[in-house]
Amino acid sequence: MRLAVVGSGYVGLVAGACFAELGHDVVLVDNDPDKLAALQQGEVPIHEEFLPELFHRHHGKRLSFTDNTVDAVRASQAVFIAVGTPPMHSGEADLSYVESVARDIAGAIGDYKIVVDKSTVPVYTSEWVRKIMLLNGAPHGCFDVASNPEFLREGTAVTDFLYPDRIVIGADSERCIDLLREMYKPLIDGSYYDCPTAIPGPNGCKGPAPIIVTSARSAELIKHASNAFLAMKISFINAVANICEAVGADVEQVREGMGTDARIGRRFLYPGIGYGGSCFPKDVSAFHSVARECGYEFGLLDEVMRINDDQRQRFIRKVRTALWTLKGKHLGVLGLAFKDGTDDIRESPAIAIIQSLLAEGCRVTAYDPAAMDRAAEVLPSSTVKFAQSPYDVAKQTDAVLILTEWQEFKHLDLARMRESLRYPIVIDGRNLFRPEDMEKHGFIYLSIGRPDIVPQEELVKFRRAGQLLGK
Ligand SMILES: NC(=O)c1ccc[n+]([C@@H]2O[C@H](COP(=O)([O-])OP(=O)(O)OC[C@H]3O[C@@H](n4cnc5c(N)ncnc54)[C@H](O)[C@@H]3O)[C@@H](O)[C@H]2O)c1
Repeated sequence: MRLAVVGSGYVGLVAGACFAELGHDVVLVDNDPDKLAALQQGEVPIHEEFLPELFHRHHGKRLSFTDNTVDAVRASQAVFIAVGTPPMHSGEADLSYVESVARDIAGAIGDYKIVVDKSTVPVYTSEWVRKIMLLNGAPHGCFDVASNPEFLREGTAVTDFLYPDRIVIGADSERCIDLLREMYKPLIDGSYYDCPTAIPGPNGCKGPAPIIVTSARSAELIKHASNAFLAMKISFINAVANICEAVGADVEQVREGMGTDARIGRRFLYPGIGYGGSCFPKDVSAFHSVARECGYEFGLLDEVMRINDDQRQRFIRKVRTALWTLKGKHLGVLGLAFKDGTDDIRESPAIAIIQSLLAEGCRVTAYDPAAMDRAAEVLPSSTVKFAQSPYDVAKQTDAVLILTEWQEFKHLDLARMRESLRYPIVIDGRNLFRPEDMEKHGFIYLSIGRPDIVPQEELVKFRRAGQLLGK
């Protein structure tokens, strides 16, 4: 099939490359000239496993790029909308990008096409897109609008797309549903997974992908409700971690005990410095606004957001507990991206924490395997330096903070890190290390929801030096 994807960001780019991988001819549209020029030259602008491979396979063959929405729509049977839906001050989603694309598409409809919303949008958006298109001259009966929400996670976006937990098709016309089924056929019937060049699935997963067909409204709600639920799971375990800290219990043990219950599950039950990224914060507040708009006060979501904000403040209090005063301190930071596997720093808790520490008068030396270039665009060069390796971060800093759960940090040579540090203080916002390992290597180690590790000899030394460590 010939497909157009309008918006070549994280979602559009991954979806477009994966649809090309499934055998479709895809034209990706974007109105950012710099991004477009890079894409046309074959550059992959985001850090995402397997995306360069898909680009290499399909660029200039089944995958092309343009800034011309009208031409792309005319040449396609299906048009995906994958533009941003950022939050407004009120918390509602800003749908002006979606509206603008709907207007552009309307003018290019001649024969029957389907318009598919992949952006995360509030319920009723499909109806609004339809109305806008009709108002802007799209002929009646010549198009259908569907919702096909995207559940990919940054860091594992390609495999999430090709090996999805489910594909949700929300449409109110059989013709439209049939076209969408056809588009995803290699995943639904499993034929893609038999292909020798198929991108390997997580843990040898072999599909086929389950498909769920719903009304457009239900599909829109599925996406918002799913993200809000996942955010709630994160806030819940963070609240539990705070109780663990108060009573001297270990949240990792509590998490294991809870997560083995199949009804609860282990995933998204990791305590830390709170959720971030371009989706959860905005989707929780957008869903809250949707609920309010339809007359339901979703107070639970207020609490999810409050716990999340509070978690960052608690982490800063931990740093203060370890270092007594913050002004003039030099901190090493491991991790800038909002999560591992990506260079995305949008709404990254790591960036927010660094900004708070800078406001308190700290200096920072940071390392991230992928996100340093992006972080350099938003952090002041006068007080933030970037290091070439995690060990360089440790050199001459007063403490090391772990702010992103990059798996490579888990395998650091702790003895080497201990040697590089001026003071052996590690404050781990992601619970990456085992407290017993940190104790063995002589670190003062503060993490989330677990008892602090303060080796006796260090306690004596630092108390003498006038610092308030531990209790
Ligand atoms: N990033 C994720 O992990 C993720 C996952 C699932 C769903 N989503 C949702 O998908 C949507 C897109 O998210 P994203 O992260 O890909 O955003 P993004 O900001 O990375 O990409 C959006 C792209 O759309 C382009 N654009 C905006 N207006 C345009 C127009 N009129 N014509 C052509 N191009 C235009 C922008 O230049 C940009 O490249 C959002 O609704 C988001 O909530 C994102």
